[in-house]
Amino acid sequence: RKRYTVTLLPGDGIGPEVISVAKNVLNLTASIEGIQFEYKERPVGGAALDLTGVPLPEETLLTAKQSDAVLLGAIGGYKWDNNEKHLKPETGLLHLREGLKVFANLRPASVLPQLVDASTLKKEVAEGVDLMVVRELTGGIYFGKPRGLGTNENGEQIGFNTEVYASFEIDRIARIAFETARKRRGKLCSVDKANVLEASMLWRKRVNAIASEFPDVELSHMYVDNAAMQLVRNPKQFDTIVTNNIFGDILSDEASMITGSIGMLPSASVGESGPGLFEPIHGSAPDIAGQDKANPLATVLSVAMLLKYGLGEVNAANRIEAAVLDTLNRGFRTGDIYSPGTKLVGCKEMGEEVLKSVDSQVPAA
Ligand code: NAD
Ligand code: IPM
Ligand code: MN
Repeated sequence: RKRYTVTLLPGDGIGPEVISVAKNVLNLTASIEGIQFEYKERPVGGAALDLTGVPLPEETLLTAKQSDAVLLGAIGGYKWDNNEKHLKPETGLLHLREGLKVFANLRPASVLPQLVDASTLKKEVAEGVDLMVVRELTGGIYFGKPRGLGTNENGEQIGFNTEVYASFEIDRIARIAFETARKRRGKLCSVDKANVLEASMLWRKRVNAIASEFPDVELSHMYVDNAAMQLVRNPKQFDTIVTNNIFGDILSDEASMITGSIGMLPSASVGESGPGLFEPIHGSAPDIAGQDKANPLATVLSVAMLLKYGLGEVNAANRIEAAVLDTLNRGFRTGDIYSPGTKLVGCKEMGEEVLKSVDSQVPAA
């Protein structure tokens, strides 16, 4: 029997609600597939601040590093919004990504036939969309120096950040993106702002250089403002998108809405070695936290990505993905993906229905 250790980081807001569902789904899937999981649950974000005074306790990072994979719910909330930078929940998450060296964040967005009606786009625009955003995760303006708050020569307050990329950072994310595109439909669109930003000029140059290693992949470039527009004009033109940290953050939230809801989109963050970090792309949704309204499917699908990309347990991953589709086929919807004629359920009930579907899936060959 294969045994894995997974660090669970429920975090804040709806984080614990969706992690609870995802853990149950992982447990049942594992028992059917003959895999054993040991869980280490640790505090991160606001929960860690309240408990220990810091958003990423050393012990949490150490446990994460020593496990086979890390599953995170979400962090953040009104309570900590005015904290100083180093005491923000978000800083804990950024340090976790940095500490695990997970520079490549894969954010797939596909429109499931069951959810075409949940998209805010017209059916003919949304139908069949299947794209992957490859977001650089440990560089760019999120981490660039100099940064800070200060005073200018007129005595006025200033806040400043730096968008900076070294060529090795671009090369390694580009290679992951080309490899991703190669396994998909062979099309890669690099999104930048090379008409204005030097960091983007280097980005485009390095992506072009790495392209020579992947002659079978069709590469194009697009400015980020146009990309934001094209995503709602004709999202089917995209296969794989590669972009920097901040553009990837924004474009993936935009892409989520094509699919019906941000509550559906999972992600996988991986590095050269060591455990991957798996999390839904959404946040802690303080507006619905504690009300059993959250859609747990983004986190359930993140578990599928954990099994597939993190542990190579493809059968178990497929079982979970099939169970999610089956649950949707049986008509169950949380509020964010509800449409008339479907059955409105809460987070917990959605979780119970997914468990029934996991159980009823024919064992994979
Ligand atoms: P958010 O993603 O938390 O919420 C945006 C909107 O989407 C809200 O209306 C929310 O109710 C809805 N939503 C999000 N997830 C949902 C789900 N699973 N089911 C149903 N509806 C869902 O973004 P925000 O409101 O901008 O940020 C809230 C907090 O979360 C902030 O503190 C922010 O820093 C943090 N955040 C954390 C992460 C993370 O942990 N990775 C990601 C984004 C934002
Ligand atoms: C995300 C979030 C984070 C980010 C924040 C909470 C630091 O928006 O995971 O998409 O900007 O990366
Ligand atoms: Mn985001």
